[in-house]
Amino acid sequence: MDTITKEAQKTNLDTFPINGTDYIEFYVGNAKQAALYYQAAFGFELIAYRGPETGYRDAVSYVLQQGKIRFVLSAALQPDHEIARHVALHGDGVKVLALWVDDARDAYAKATARGAESAFEPYEISDDDGTIVVAGIKTYGETVHTLVERKDYHGVFMPGFTACSSMRKVTPVGLKYVDHCVGNVELGGMNKWVKFYQEILGFKLLITFDDKDISTKYTALMSKVVSNGNGYIKFPINEPAQGLKKSQIEEYLDFYKSAGVQHIAVATDNIIETVDQLRNNGVDFLYVPDNYYEDVLDRVGHIDEDLEDLKRLNILIDRDEDGYLLQIFTKPVQDRPTVFYEIIQRKGARSFGKGNFKALFEAIEREQELRGTL
Ligand code: FE2
Repeated sequence: MDTITKEAQKTNLDTFPINGTDYIEFYVGNAKQAALYYQAAFGFELIAYRGPETGYRDAVSYVLQQGKIRFVLSAALQPDHEIARHVALHGDGVKVLALWVDDARDAYAKATARGAESAFEPYEISDDDGTIVVAGIKTYGETVHTLVERKDYHGVFMPGFTACSSMRKVTPVGLKYVDHCVGNVELGGMNKWVKFYQEILGFKLLITFDDKDISTKYTALMSKVVSNGNGYIKFPINEPAQGLKKSQIEEYLDFYKSAGVQHIAVATDNIIETVDQLRNNGVDFLYVPDNYYEDVLDRVGHIDEDLEDLKRLNILIDRDEDGYLLQIFTKPVQDRPTVFYEIIQRKGARSFGKGNFKALFEAIEREQELRGTL
């Protein structure tokens, strides 16, 4: 099977309107330290907090923001708390991909009527700044889509959280919004979850990559990308394919212990400045050998940037029929080889860097080899 690239049909009939990503919540072992990492290394501002000091006894949550990206880092204060169980099993990872909707009750009713499994029923939370309605549906692994209705809320994040700010001066690194968010699922699970997004949440299939597109000498995977009605949300779904050695998807599943979020791609308008700052802040990126740059311009043609800058920072380049893109991948950001980040700058291109898959997967294999998991 060959790669199919198909633009989602533009239609007025969006059967599940979503305005965009509301927030991404991580369950972590130590939210206080993780919050400092995201401020110091990734340039996020601390904007809100909930914990015992605000009347919430069992867990703490730190809310961080940069551009339109909002992360929530939550940790348990007692061993029998759900977050503690989740972290013991999965390590630090993404629990919630929250979707911003106009009517959370209606969205929940539609999703469950179409077969979505409920995570929790709709409920209201209020404070002096107004009211929020939330509901939850389950997706792959233990990941949840919280549906957030915030049209009657004017506070900084949600009722129960108090506004706060970073203790130290934070320098933003230019991250603007979540470009896409990738899930790794078990062998055979990709089509099931693509169908879930298509039939329940009204997403369209954008692109299919098979194991001929995404393979090296040793490892392979398959991937399909789905996108919501307005195109703001893109979810690639990966599953492992048969290779000579263990694929990076299998390694992820072995360590995360279930399907889950593999990487979050965040967009910047100036990847050279962003990556320069991230490297200075101590963020670790995958290494791509210098020979990648020897013939890359033959493949991608003219680019506005100085190739020496891209080479120095190890930024990858790819082109499709609409333009080109620049991208780079961090190493995992927690102890287990699970969640990592992609930094992406789109200069017209709407695809995902297919031309870089080989270089990227070889870079991941070098890391797997060091971990003894290839
Ligand atoms: Fe990506």
